[in-house]
Amino acid sequence: MTGRLGCAPCQKTYPITGGVPRLVAGSVSPASTETAGRFGAQWKTFDHMSTYQEQWLRKWLDPIGPDDFTGKVILEAGCGKGRHTLVASDWGAAEIVALDLSESVDVAFFHARERKNVHVVQGDILCPPVRRVFDLAFSVGVLHHLPDPRAGFDKLRGRVKPGGKIAVWVYGHENNEWIVRYVNPFRNRITARMNPELLYWLSLPPSAALAMTLVLYRNERVAKLLPYRDYLRQLATVPLREVHNIVFDQLVTPIAFYMRQDEVRSWFSGQGLGCVTLSWHNKNSWRASALVTE
Ligand SMILES: C[S@@+](CC[C@H](N)C(=O)[O-])C[C@H]1O[C@@H](n2cnc3c(N)ncnc32)[C@H](O)[C@@H]1O
Repeated sequence: MTGRLGCAPCQKTYPITGGVPRLVAGSVSPASTETAGRFGAQWKTFDHMSTYQEQWLRKWLDPIGPDDFTGKVILEAGCGKGRHTLVASDWGAAEIVALDLSESVDVAFFHARERKNVHVVQGDILCPPVRRVFDLAFSVGVLHHLPDPRAGFDKLRGRVKPGGKIAVWVYGHENNEWIVRYVNPFRNRITARMNPELLYWLSLPPSAALAMTLVLYRNERVAKLLPYRDYLRQLATVPLREVHNIVFDQLVTPIAFYMRQDEVRSWFSGQGLGCVTLSWHNKNSWRASALVTE
């Protein structure tokens, strides 16, 4: 639960506290530090676990699925509170390193502390404190929050063994132009600078209004006439707390890139990746995967 880890080649030691190795080198960018601070506050507040998480993860990673986890060594980049870490553990991963820069690692550790195959680690995706030992690296909803999403992707890919796989899900630009135009400036100038506790309360009324609107999406025929049908139908049956979490998540972060298809495709176009899949998830985001061939 506590101790120190020493790195002989770099002659540094890193603390272990609360069961989590804190492998954060001094070189983390101020932008990443600020982003992690905000997400740490988010996951300490919205620390609930839900039964629909597995279903959602399947959709975010498709065609990567449970078989790609069973018996495999997994790197989860940006684990947040550990909701997907638990699913990966249930899917029978041999070992999972669940990495996050923020204090959310304490929440993830709390949830996963009884799981022998889970290792929660605090560290930066842009300087991942792990070797090239993974059969699968996956990252859900994280790369678009890095100062340089492409660099994050390259770092993850570099930690996957030849023959292993990488799978990511990121916000899409297509269909979200209104967010980029209207919500992003509001987020950048106001909500991303706001005290998280104040943002929690201020984001509650719009979340409640959205939750009430979501009831309309439960009816398939009505939903067909409404915007964001594919995405919002999925949210139509979740509790208000989850809707609140999603609204808060959209507003809390200082960095949120909305990625164009071509941009995501370009990450996968270099040497050493094969069997690339790229699909438009819920018509508002991109999910992509590949086999690491060299
Ligand atoms: C939107 S949350 C997603 C968390 C988790 N993947 C999930 O879906 O529940 C983004 C996460 O990325 C983490 N993060 C942001 N920048 C990071 C970095 N440079 N290195 C590691 N984690 C980072 C944040 O702390 C946050 O927990």
